[in-house]
Amino acid sequence: MKLAVIGAGSMGAQIAQQAALHGIEVVLQDKDEAQLHRAQESNRGHLQRRVEKGRLTQRDADTALERVQATTDLARAARDADFVIEAVFEDLDVKRAIFTELDGIAPADAVLASNSSTIRISHLAAITTHPARCLNMHFFYPVLVMDLVEIVRGPQTSDEATNKAMELALAMGRTPVLLNKEIDGFIVNRILHAATQEAYRLLDAGVASFEDIDTAVEKGLNWPMGPFRLGDFSGLDVTYNARLHMYRVTGDERYRPSPQLEAKVNAGKLGRKTGEGWYRYEK
Ligand SMILES: NC(=O)c1ccc[n+]([C@@H]2O[C@H](COP(=O)([O-])OP(=O)(O)OC[C@H]3O[C@@H](n4cnc5c(N)ncnc54)[C@H](O)[C@@H]3O)[C@@H](O)[C@H]2O)c1
Repeated sequence: MKLAVIGAGSMGAQIAQQAALHGIEVVLQDKDEAQLHRAQESNRGHLQRRVEKGRLTQRDADTALERVQATTDLARAARDADFVIEAVFEDLDVKRAIFTELDGIAPADAVLASNSSTIRISHLAAITTHPARCLNMHFFYPVLVMDLVEIVRGPQTSDEATNKAMELALAMGRTPVLLNKEIDGFIVNRILHAATQEAYRLLDAGVASFEDIDTAVEKGLNWPMGPFRLGDFSGLDVTYNARLHMYRVTGDERYRPSPQLEAKVNAGKLGRKTGEGWYRYEK
């Protein structure tokens, strides 16, 4: 089994490393050489911490790091791959260009998966000559920690490609769930958006403070973080843009971003990364 991961950013680097930890040979490709280097150093740090905690032997860590070959050459990464996972910037044109190239380079029976959070696979499959082998394979950040993978079939995705994706997720030590239909937001973001929108509605209507809404959700639903704390953690710009995207694609008023969220974003108060969002953070 040979896996090619395209894009060595936050997601691609760890998707590659998670597979390698489970014995899969991986080629990790990025157009940016420096980014490949950063990805390798970051993975080395993650595995070293596991070694220090006694959760991984030094030998297993070294072997897993060696199993990830880094390259800037897309053809080298994909020409003998059994499975390709694309994790480049969230931009339709960039992804389309990659899928067009992969279509010509990867073996005809290789599965082409996109880790996109918002782009339906049909938008990428449509420009390939074998749309049946394309699907979404949506990992969660940070991939080395988060267990879930959403596998989403497009209207043309074959059973064979779907089964291979389910098997790969399991082989990587991850739990796959299958969506039989394309839908914006998949399962997790769909449910998260619905709950978060309700939290913002309660805030905007003056029903409770954001602190009390977080406390209610954390103590009453046993979520590890309430929606406002989670927003600060992920970045309020990310939360805002996700809402705006859902609002634009569905036209559904329920997804319209909260004015209070919009004000935070306009003020540059984006959460932990800027030192302040809903809460304040020590730098
Ligand atoms: N960050 C998250 O929490 C998260 C979670 C799930 C899914 N995703 C999805 O994963 C994908 C990647 O997100 P990310 O957060 O890792 O982004 P990122 O910006 O950290 O990394 C993207 C990488 O793609 C590389 N790249 C861009 N164009 C390229 C090209 N033409 N060829 C090769 N490499 C190229 C960039 O150099 C960069 O290293 C997106 O589709 C995103 O929607 C992100």
